[in-house]
Amino acid sequence: MRVLVIGSGAREHALCVALQSDPAVTALACAPGNAGTVTLAQAFPLDAADPAAVSALAVEWQAHLVVVGPEVPLVAGAADAVREAGIACFGPSAQAAQIEGSKAFAKHVMTAAGVPTAQFSAVGGEAELETALDEAGAPYVVKDDGLAAGKGVLVTTDRAAAVAHGQAVLGAGHSVLIEEFLDGPEVSLFALSDGTTVVPLLPAQDHKRRDDGDGGPNTGGMGAYAPLPWAPAGLVEEVRATVLQPTIDEMARRGEPFSGLLYAGLALTSRGVRVVEFNARFGDPETQVVLPLLETPLAGLLYAAATGTLAEQPPLRWRDGAAVTVVVAASGYPERPRVGDPITGADGEGVLHAGTALGPDGLVHSAGGRVLSVTAVGEDLAAARQTVYERLASVRLADAHWRTDIALAAVEGRITT
Ligand code: AMP
Ligand code: GLY
Repeated sequence: MRVLVIGSGAREHALCVALQSDPAVTALACAPGNAGTVTLAQAFPLDAADPAAVSALAVEWQAHLVVVGPEVPLVAGAADAVREAGIACFGPSAQAAQIEGSKAFAKHVMTAAGVPTAQFSAVGGEAELETALDEAGAPYVVKDDGLAAGKGVLVTTDRAAAVAHGQAVLGAGHSVLIEEFLDGPEVSLFALSDGTTVVPLLPAQDHKRRDDGDGGPNTGGMGAYAPLPWAPAGLVEEVRATVLQPTIDEMARRGEPFSGLLYAGLALTSRGVRVVEFNARFGDPETQVVLPLLETPLAGLLYAAATGTLAEQPPLRWRDGAAVTVVVAASGYPERPRVGDPITGADGEGVLHAGTALGPDGLVHSAGGRVLSVTAVGEDLAAARQTVYERLASVRLADAHWRTDIALAAVEGRITT
């Protein structure tokens, strides 16, 4: 099988690593890719946000399966264009990807499907903003309705800051959601779907804030670990039955079947499981810890999801142990990441590339906010954590920033539900 991965982050690097180890894969390409993916997959220049360019590359390269990593191409219609060209594609249609592309759409689907989520109100103008904030009360949760790479949300007890964030989103021409605050630990649960059948993967936890101790701004994700030793028994089955399957069924009922990866961002609140958000693709950095634990060959699974045959697949096999990944961010991330700095030590074991590029000098340079995702698997979380931080010690990037506490609360037994 010739597999073309679309994207250029550490998630796509992790997908390439997993796909490369599947004996069914005879050729692998990743476009546009990064300085890490080029070491194991053919690279092509590509504007991934242009569906016609994605399908043209898939046809020219004679792909049997296209795997679309990021949300932007999906929302733009990349999967539709690839399927129209007669090639199997892992990823939802533009319409189905609205489950991530519009938080208001996701809320409508959840309401219709009876899926538990935070109470919310959608605000289209400044006049309603303050009323909605006062009705919800502190802590305030203020969200950009559209795609914002994980950075459109402000959770704060500072009313003036909440108003200012809402005004900024409205000023950019988007609508704003004001939500009920959800307490309790967060879980990222991915599920493969072919539009009908749902196959959950292992639960993982992301660390969304930039700094140790969950300080600083929200980011795209600073590190992750899997599995979750503190997760209640039966969590995955509960979420499959009350969140994932009803959502997939509702999308099919609307005539917008969702095939690809449905990512449920959950809060385990004092009142039960609530959906914080849905994403229409593999999460980054959670993919970097879920895929190394998966023993079932990945390409066959993604092909089955893309072709409507997931129900025929045997149960997934997982290896024992745990995985931890730590994101190396550029100075200035997330507001104004500095790019163009040389990186050394980026070819070590477990080092996945994100915002990297090969400079004219043939050396690896930083080219984005999240630069690397350093990953390790161990017999338990404590062992994986130790290895990952040892590996980080060999990475050199001027003024780089990473959290030193990824998975620490779980290792110390400080997470309770
Ligand atoms: P989102 O972009 O919706 O995933 O939100 C990003 C992050 O903001 C989430 O992972 C949470 O940490 C936080 N967040 C979002 N919605 C809520 C909520 N209703 N209550 C508490 N925290 C939230
Ligand atoms: N890890 C958060 C995301 O992928 O959206």
